[in-house]
Amino acid sequence: MAIVIIRQDGKMEEWKQALLEADPSINIYTYDEPHPKEDILMALVWKHPEGSLAGYPRMQCVASFGAGVDFIWKDPDLPDGIPVTRVVDPVLASDMSEYVLTYLLGYMKNSFQYQNDQRKRIWKPVPYKRIKDVQVGIMGLGALGSDLAHLLSSLGFPLVGWSRRPKEDLPLRSFSGEQELHAFMAACQVVVCLLPLTTQTEGILNRHNLRHLPKGAYLINAARGGHLVEEDLIPLIEERHLSGACLDVFREEPLPEDHPFWCCDKIQISPHIASVSDINSVTPQIIDNYLRLVENQPLMNLVSREQEY
Ligand code: NDP
Ligand code: OXD
Repeated sequence: MAIVIIRQDGKMEEWKQALLEADPSINIYTYDEPHPKEDILMALVWKHPEGSLAGYPRMQCVASFGAGVDFIWKDPDLPDGIPVTRVVDPVLASDMSEYVLTYLLGYMKNSFQYQNDQRKRIWKPVPYKRIKDVQVGIMGLGALGSDLAHLLSSLGFPLVGWSRRPKEDLPLRSFSGEQELHAFMAACQVVVCLLPLTTQTEGILNRHNLRHLPKGAYLINAARGGHLVEEDLIPLIEERHLSGACLDVFREEPLPEDHPFWCCDKIQISPHIASVSDINSVTPQIIDNYLRLVENQPLMNLVSREQEY
């Protein structure tokens, strides 16, 4: 019985060593080394190459190294009915909240504009915003969105949130379902997308929905590039409907060199680093789930194939 690690970012060996250090009794292989395919019970994956899940006759679980699983559903070789798990981790959540807070305050205090002005030696004071006056909307109130809600609420931000099902246990005004999306948008001066990418949420940040934000709103997308209809963003900024956007994720990553977002000074870009699975924090839950699999116990952090998250 064994685990195979499949990823393409040069981190397979690092993860293998961390997992072996946590439990030396487990057999762990990286995808690029010879391994007995019939022994593999769990594939641990992050943006694995298409076809790499094929040919494992006893595989019983596909585990994402991250919170998102959208890349797993895209794989035509994903065995039918196999359980899929993901990472749910307080460090992943607090890292994301800190990322969002950084850009939120940058927007409120005009930091991005001053960075641009400095390059051109322009001295131009602009009124800043205070926490109590900025209503932030969080799309997706799961592991990440709810952590963000608690952090922002503790700082005094007025909050609204949008999810599939209404939430009563979070410090915000809850909106839910497609029918309340536009009312939610209308209440956000800053909207933060922390949704999973699914058939329902693909392209949700489009011209039609974003038009419901109040004029001058700011968008933060730290979820997936597929949420944003990219060609709709710059026109909304040029019309001054949006005052700008912070984007950590893109339809194509790395963002192509000739992409128009690079040249828009109202768009802040980061290279999909809002929150990165921390090896020390995440290793124990991977080992725990593998041992559960071996012992036929219920798995943690399962995702629903039907809901895609
Ligand atoms: P969760 O599964 O815990 O939460 C998902 C939330 O989205 C839930 O509140 C859910 O509603 C809501 N939701 C799902 N579908 C819909 C829909 N159709 N309409 C309205 N609400 C919906 O996910 P996480 O919080 O753990 O992660 C969210 C995403 O963040 C990940 O899928 C990943 O893509 C992204 N991510 C990005 C990172 C980065 O570095 N940029 C790092 C980590 C994650 P309900 O509560 O009602 O079920
Ligand atoms: C994740 C990510 O989904 O890093 O965890 O994007």
